[in-house]
Amino acid sequence: MRVLGIETSCDETGVALVDAERGLLSHALHSQVDVHRRYGGVVPELASRDHIQRLLPLVNEVLERAGGEAKAQAIAYTAGPGLVGALLVGASLARALAFAWDVPVVPVHHMEGHLLAPMLEPDPPSFPFVALLVSGGHTLLVEVEAVGCYRILGRSLDDAAGEAFDKTAKLLGLPYPGGPALAELAGRGRPGQWDLPRPLLGRPGLDFSFSGLKTAVMVAVRQRPEGRQAGHQARADLARAFEEAVVETLVAKSLQALQATGHKRLVVAGGVGANQRLREAMRRQVEANGGQVYYPSLEFCTDNGAMIAYAGLRRLADAQGPIETMSVRPRWSLDSLSPPAVNESG
Ligand code: KG4
Ligand code: ZN
Repeated sequence: MRVLGIETSCDETGVALVDAERGLLSHALHSQVDVHRRYGGVVPELASRDHIQRLLPLVNEVLERAGGEAKAQAIAYTAGPGLVGALLVGASLARALAFAWDVPVVPVHHMEGHLLAPMLEPDPPSFPFVALLVSGGHTLLVEVEAVGCYRILGRSLDDAAGEAFDKTAKLLGLPYPGGPALAELAGRGRPGQWDLPRPLLGRPGLDFSFSGLKTAVMVAVRQRPEGRQAGHQARADLARAFEEAVVETLVAKSLQALQATGHKRLVVAGGVGANQRLREAMRRQVEANGGQVYYPSLEFCTDNGAMIAYAGLRRLADAQGPIETMSVRPRWSLDSLSPPAVNESG
């Protein structure tokens, strides 16, 4: 079974072809950074238009790279959550190609794609595990029993981790996309120069809150004008303090989730999972507690077509069948995928 995956939920057009036996055959990605940079963030209508222009050429490229005869036997596309116009571009092409090629179409939940992305690696995690999903729109701790069996253990009560990175980057005068820019600046920061809060840390429960942290950075920038103007060093120090506060919180809550569930394996996925300080701190501390961390490779932490193709493949292979959704769902809770029994126990 070979599945073509199409990802267009936000500002990246991703396409990939995944084979059940041979794994990832080919993939291609187009980032819209240049389209949105001058606006300081994603402009939904421009995102949709760019997906329209890029998607079909990328599909052709992926199929060609995989060798002409490598036909897809199913098409998976991101049906949500995401920007509705952007989602519709992927959904429309997926359904049109499926009709033309006479193959099934599989709507995929974007966060399920992120969650399963480490399965594409040479040493994939086995079930069950805990997943920390940290993207631009979501921060979730999920207990994963099997494909399609998810119990949400904790979530962000306000800003997602990636959103906090992006907003804080803006406060520090960094360009979109903020997360990687802030991480780079933080790499030049000195530790212990700013004292920022660790919201909800040390409290029971596995929920997160990041908006207070962003506000603390704003107050710091205002109170000490050197935070913004004087220079680079003060801003780098503040970026580092912010990054450390987020990383410490994510690590502590993940350890708490492992302890609460008794699982030993932790998957970290989503765009913020590309953050080096997070990867290193998480690995060190989870291993120190007898656990093991699994990451997608860096290119599959952020949005991509491979994770969507893989999620589609697993949905077909595990005979769970496609999720019933006619179109796209801009808002879509991950735990709605679980069978009712799992929901009740949660
Ligand atoms: O998963 P993703 O590509 O898209 C969504 O599903 O949202 O995640 C994008 C988010 C953005 O907020 C971006 O700033 C953040 O991931 N991000 C990072 C890094 N790379 C991407 N945040 C911190 N450090 C990074 N290296
Ligand atoms: Zn994503």
